[in-house]
Amino acid sequence: MSEKIKLGILGGGGDSLIGVLHRVASSMHDKYQIVGGVFNPVWEENIGFAQKLGLSTNRIYIDFDTFIEEELKLPKSERIEVVSVLTPNFLHFPMAKKLIESGFHVICEKPLTTTLAEAEVLESVLKKSNTIFAVTYTYTGYPMIRQMREMILSGVIGEVHKVDIQYYQGWINPILLDKELRKTIWRLDPKKAGISSCVGDIGTHAFNMAEYLTGKEVTSILADLNTRYEDNQLDVDGTILIRFSEYVKGVIRSSQIATGEENGLEVKIYGTKGGFNWKQENPNYLYYLTDDKPLQVLKPGHAYNGAISLDGTKLPPGHPEGIFDSMGNIYYGVAKAIRKQDHDSGEYPNINDGVRGMKFIEKSVESHKSGNIWLDL
Ligand SMILES: NC(=O)c1ccc[n+]([C@@H]2O[C@H](COP(=O)([O-])OP(=O)(O)OC[C@H]3O[C@@H](n4cnc5c(N)ncnc54)[C@H](O)[C@@H]3O)[C@@H](O)[C@H]2O)c1
Repeated sequence: MSEKIKLGILGGGGDSLIGVLHRVASSMHDKYQIVGGVFNPVWEENIGFAQKLGLSTNRIYIDFDTFIEEELKLPKSERIEVVSVLTPNFLHFPMAKKLIESGFHVICEKPLTTTLAEAEVLESVLKKSNTIFAVTYTYTGYPMIRQMREMILSGVIGEVHKVDIQYYQGWINPILLDKELRKTIWRLDPKKAGISSCVGDIGTHAFNMAEYLTGKEVTSILADLNTRYEDNQLDVDGTILIRFSEYVKGVIRSSQIATGEENGLEVKIYGTKGGFNWKQENPNYLYYLTDDKPLQVLKPGHAYNGAISLDGTKLPPGHPEGIFDSMGNIYYGVAKAIRKQDHDSGEYPNINDGVRGMKFIEKSVESHKSGNIWLDL
C-alpha cells in the first residue's frame, strides 16, 4: 500500500480565494494528506483555521522560516514532502526558492514570481535539485481541454493557423471606481502583484492555454494595455496580438473591467481541417467544427476521449467536471511525478510554463510602454 504524500500549505487561509480549491483538489485522487503549514501571517487566524479544518496543530507554524527550520529537524520519513505556495505573488519567489533549496517538492500558484529575473533564478536553482515543481495553471486540468490538446497535437484540425483566447472578468470595475477601495487590493499594488494586474493575473492563463493547446511557443507579441485611471498603476485590461510564425497568428484579450463578466475564459483555435471552441463557464462541452460536417459536441467520460482526458474523469458521462476536478487532475499528475510513476507531460504545468508566463507578462508591459511595439519572446 502506498503512503499518502505529506502536503504542506503556505497561504490559502480561510480568508483566501484559492485555498479551498487546492485543499479539495489535493484530496480528490486520495494521494495527499495535508499535514501542516502557515495559512495566514496572523497567528490567531492561522491556528484558528487549522483547528477549523480539524488538523493537528503541532505542524502549524508561526511563519515560513519556522516552517522550514522545524520541518528540517524531522526525520525524512515524517517530513512534509511537497508544499503548495498559495500566497500573494510577491511571496512566491522567496518561498519557492528556499523550499527547493531545502529539498521540498513545490506546487506554486501563478504567476510564478513578480519578475522574469526571479523566475529564471528559480529555474536555475531547480536544475541543481531533484525537486518536482508545478505551476498551477488550473485550466490545463479540465478533461475537455486535455482532449482538445490531444486532438490538436495529433493533427485532427490540421495545421493550426488562428488562436483567439479571451479571458474577461468584471470584478475590479466597482473597486476601481472607489479611490480608497482601490488601495486595499493587493492585485493593484505593484509591491505585491508585480508589474501587471490583468495580464499577470489572467492574461497569463490565456497565454498558457495558447501554448499548452497548440504545443507551440508564441514567438512575438504586441500589447495594448489599459490602467483605466491615471492614478492606477497596473493594467486592468489588455489586448495582445500574438504570433507563432509569419503565417500563424492570434490574439489574447484579457480584462478585469469587462463589467458584469464572471470568469469568462474562452478558447477558439482554428486549423486547416477544423476548429475548437471551449468556454470555462461551460467546461464539459467541447465544440468541434469542420468545413463539411455538422457541429460536433464532445463531452467528458466517453470512450472516444483520449487517455489523458479519461484519466482525469472520475464519474460516468453526465456528471459535470468543474474547476475542482481540473485542479485535482493537476495534483494527480504531480503525485505521479513525486512517486516516480509514468505520466504524460501535459498532466501538470512545470517551471518552463511558469517562466514563459513571466516572459509574456514582462514583454507585454514593455511592448505597451514602448508605444505598442512587436517584441520577441
Ligand atoms: N490558478 C488560478 O486559477 C488562481 C486563481 C486565483 C488566485 N490564484 C493565485 O493564487 C495566489 C493567491 O491568490 P488569492 O486570490 O487566493 O489571494 P488571497 O488574498 O485571497 O489569499 C492569500 C492568502 O495568503 C495568506 N498569506 C499572506 N501572506 C502570508 C504569509 N506571509 N504567510 C502565509 N500566508 C500568507 C493570506 O492570509 C491569505 O490567506 C496568487 O498568486 C494568485 O495569482 C490563482
